[in-house]
Amino acid sequence: MKAIILAGGTGSRLRPITHTGPKQLIPVANKPVLEYAIEDLKNVEIREIGIVLGNSGCDEIQNLIGNGEEYGVDITYILQGNPLGLAHAVGCARDFVDGEDFVMYLGDNILKTGICDLVESFRNNTYGAGIAIQKVENPHRFGIVEVDSDGNIIELIEKPSDPATNLALIGIYVFSPVVFDAIDRLEPSSRGELEITDAIQYILDDGYKIDTHIVTGWWKDTGKPEDILEANRLILDDKNLEINGHIEDGAETYGRIELADSSIIEGGAVVRGPVSIAKHTTIKAGAYVGPYTSIGPNSVLRNTHIENSVVIGDSTITASGRIVDSLIGRHTNIKSSTNHLPEGRRLIVGERSHLKL
Ligand code: G1P
Repeated sequence: MKAIILAGGTGSRLRPITHTGPKQLIPVANKPVLEYAIEDLKNVEIREIGIVLGNSGCDEIQNLIGNGEEYGVDITYILQGNPLGLAHAVGCARDFVDGEDFVMYLGDNILKTGICDLVESFRNNTYGAGIAIQKVENPHRFGIVEVDSDGNIIELIEKPSDPATNLALIGIYVFSPVVFDAIDRLEPSSRGELEITDAIQYILDDGYKIDTHIVTGWWKDTGKPEDILEANRLILDDKNLEINGHIEDGAETYGRIELADSSIIEGGAVVRGPVSIAKHTTIKAGAYVGPYTSIGPNSVLRNTHIENSVVIGDSTITASGRIVDSLIGRHTNIKSSTNHLPEGRRLIVGERSHLKL
């Protein structure tokens, strides 16, 4: 079995962070979202992985993941070009898949339980497709599945305005090569895209069996800043956090903390876990890093109080006061104004930023 990871998309709901890098590389607990997908695939013994790239972020993804050797997998890059829908992206991978069954993993999805159940069940039976579903509160945002009382699928509909159920397709699928016949027959949906949900409906209509798994652990589509913060909380709750860096005398640390080997929590700083601090980062006197915060590499924090936030890295934050529920991009400098009268805030803020003052 092979796999493809879809890593296109514009990341519009994560601007301005995605002006300078693809959403799949935003770190959650200091690991890019895309690496969680690669790990899940490796855990089910899939080594041949195609990453389907869109129009942007291609260089960044290839620079980070390379040929996959570092992860123990073999990566092939597939260019989608214009984003014409998920089914179009899968269609671009036809030569790579080369007649085998394959997993399709949306590169901005993270799930707690991995994909073993879904993949093992598909390997041991004959299905046209395997899908993973979960109950959601906002079904109109997803592909929705209608099932009968025996659990058999009746219909799949992409983002219905009036959803018949709250069972959403999560972003991980398994396909036999029959999916390509279905994709060939697709017409663009009302949003102008070739929908993978419609392709699965065709597979069902053609008489193939569809395997359905209800995912009970958490699952996150990290499309929006609040999703990144929530995924960060969920991962920090589950992850085994280790201290390899240096905690100076006089520093106060509580709870579970991950501290990379070249990082320091200095005397006079307070860190209350769960927290992840990446390499070459220093938490200086007067700084407080509170629960559910990840601080990326090459950063310095002084004076500031921060919690429930993700600092992507290469940043200096010395502003006094509290920073909460924030997603802070790379190469950011946040400091206090030296001019206190009259009180005001001096901002140099990029296009499409979101500030709550
Ligand atoms: C896509 C699929 C949708 C699925 C969702 C899961 O939506 O089209 O069926 O429920 O991923 O994340 P999109 O991310 O394109 O809005």
